[in-house]
Parts: sequence; structure tokens; C-alpha cells
Amino acid sequence: MSAIDKDKVIAVLNRILEAELAGVVRYTHYSFLVFGFGRIPMVSWLREQASESLLHAQQAGEWITTLGAYPSLVIGSLLDSHKHDIGAILRESLEAEGDALTLYRELLALVEDRSVALEEFARQMILAEEGHAAQVDKMLRKPGELSAFVARPV
Ligand SMILES: [Fe+2]
Repeated sequence: MSAIDKDKVIAVLNRILEAELAGVVRYTHYSFLVFGFGRIPMVSWLREQASESLLHAQQAGEWITTLGAYPSLVIGSLLDSHKHDIGAILRESLEAEGDALTLYRELLALVEDRSVALEEFARQMILAEEGHAAQVDKMLRKPGELSAFVARPV
């Protein structure tokens, strides 16, 4: 098993940390702005996503200090379309989750067959984010529609 390229791994982990922290802010912000009949389940769902993003950020941050590096204090980009219907919020969320998935896949490529623990972490995060993206995709479909809102490789 060859060693990981620590600098590259830390750089990706920092981008993951920043993206997940942006998720905390984004989901919390949106939870304030949901109006209409769907408010109660939507607000609790958005707050669950904010908590999950915080957990992911904390896990990434712990890995950074485990590797002896300094965790970023930057927050990733926050797109706010200023459209606050549930569909717009979900489309933005799907895009952001897709970006996070790309980062976790980058991490996996860097640690695969090099670190069992980091590989396990990357795979678990990919599983969680894929599940989340699938859920959002289904929320964006019209009732009775089977085809994916956004086709993505699984
Ligand atoms: Fe996440």
C-alpha cells in the first residue's frame, strides 16, 4: 500500500470542509424562507440537511487535524438565486450536492488503496451524498414521472 499524497488530500479535505460549511449556511437560510402549505415538513427537512452538512464538515475538519494540518475557515460559495419557491431551493440544493459529490470522488481517487480509513470515509460520504441527491431528484419529479430530473452516473 503506497502512502497518500498528504498535501493533495488535505487540499481536497479543506475544499470539502468549505463546501459542507456552505451547506450549513445555505440550508439554514432557506429554512427561513419556505412559505406555503409545504412549510412544516420542508423546514424540518432543510434543518436536517443543515445538521448533516455540519456533521460532514466536522468529520472533514477532524481528518485535516488528524493529518496535522490547519482547517480552513473559509466558507464555500453560496449561490442564492433569490428565488425561494421550493423547486428553486431544491434545484440549487441538487447542484450543490453534485459539487460535493465531485469533491468526495476526488478524495476517493487520492486515497483508494492507500489508506483504508480515508477510503472508507470517502466511500461513506459518497453513499450519503448520492442518497441525498437521489432524494432531492425524486422531490423534483412530477407525480407519476419515473425518469430522473437530472441524469447522473451512479
Ligand atoms: Fe455532505
